[in-house]
Amino acid sequence: MERTNVNPESIFTLVSDAILVIDEQGFVVAANPASVKMIGCSTEELIGKVHFCSICTGMATSREEASCTDCFANKWNVPSFEMKIRTKGGSEYPVAASSTCLLTPSGKQVIVIMRDMSQQQKAEGERFQRQMINYVIQAQEEERKRVSRDLHDGVGQALYSILVGLKVLDQFHLEHDVKEQLENVWKLTTHALNEVKNMAVELRPSTLEDFGFLPTLRSYRKRYEQQYGIEMRLATKGHKRRYASIVETALYRICQEATINAAKYSGTSLIDIEMEDSDGTVMLTIRDYGQGFDPEQFLSQGSGLGLYGMKERAGLLGGTVAIHSVPGKGTTVQVIIPLTEKGEPRNVDPDTHSG
Ligand SMILES: Nc1ncnc2c1ncn2[C@@H]1O[C@H](COP(=O)(O)OP(=O)(O)O)[C@@H](O)[C@H]1O
Ligand SMILES: [Mg+2]
Repeated sequence: MERTNVNPESIFTLVSDAILVIDEQGFVVAANPASVKMIGCSTEELIGKVHFCSICTGMATSREEASCTDCFANKWNVPSFEMKIRTKGGSEYPVAASSTCLLTPSGKQVIVIMRDMSQQQKAEGERFQRQMINYVIQAQEEERKRVSRDLHDGVGQALYSILVGLKVLDQFHLEHDVKEQLENVWKLTTHALNEVKNMAVELRPSTLEDFGFLPTLRSYRKRYEQQYGIEMRLATKGHKRRYASIVETALYRICQEATINAAKYSGTSLIDIEMEDSDGTVMLTIRDYGQGFDPEQFLSQGSGLGLYGMKERAGLLGGTVAIHSVPGKGTTVQVIIPLTEKGEPRNVDPDTHSG
């Protein structure tokens, strides 16, 4: 790095903030190297030739129509405001600025100091988007929990009461036909009760909170094999432990999505699930041996909501989901989430998960 004595002139040339001096008519009369770089034209093209209004597209703090009436150039000093700058190349970006008015022998001049805020605004936007996705996922989980409880305690209990009533009726001396009819109703009610129980578990298995991901996956396997007639093999390596609830829920939901996709679209008769917890990461691999597909086609069109959702869930926890698929050979969905010793996600922005 070049060694320079700091003096007022060198500050003007060395600082990374853009500094412009504008005369009373609004023309640029001085520009430091950072402002030349920001606006994208040479010092010669700027000085005395460029009117500030031709590079300013409005102050963000003003209402659109009042933008020019509120202009900082008409005021004495404005310590902090935001505006948009249009570069020579035509692109626009936001800047944080301050202005200072000076009275010089040649008239009033305004010094404008500007700092490029596009990176910060982009990062802020992304953080806001992640927070929104997190809220939506959390709200969805809460809603599923509520519907699951209502199904179990409401419809489930009502059906159970009907079964008890039928049992009582059965103890009366009934004619053969009536008894047969009663048996049919009993069977139908038992079937409905089982359906409701399954739906409640499918929506949000209570074992996830009580016993964790692996035991839940084991009971999921049983239901899955029965429902779809597809064999599911489970293999585990490394530590067996509990994870933070957000991690266990994400693993379960990703597993559910990938295995249901395999059942719906791949035509496979076997699914392998491998879970490995070692070196501070949990890795879950779901493999089918079906017809395969092109994941990029769905992800780039934004149509694969299930695929997108898997990626979002892992991304929120600082992890990744990779989908590899080979036509005729099958599909592998691999989730990797870096974790702390306590089983909390290691790479998350704490703000994203506040609340
Ligand atoms: N394991 C798989 N095997 C074959 N095709 C798949 C598989 N998983 C997903 N797909 C294809 O990708 C598409 C998008 O999947 P997804 O995002 O889960 O949406 P959805 O399940 O709602 O259709 C599916 O419609 C299907 O065509
Ligand atoms: Mg799907």
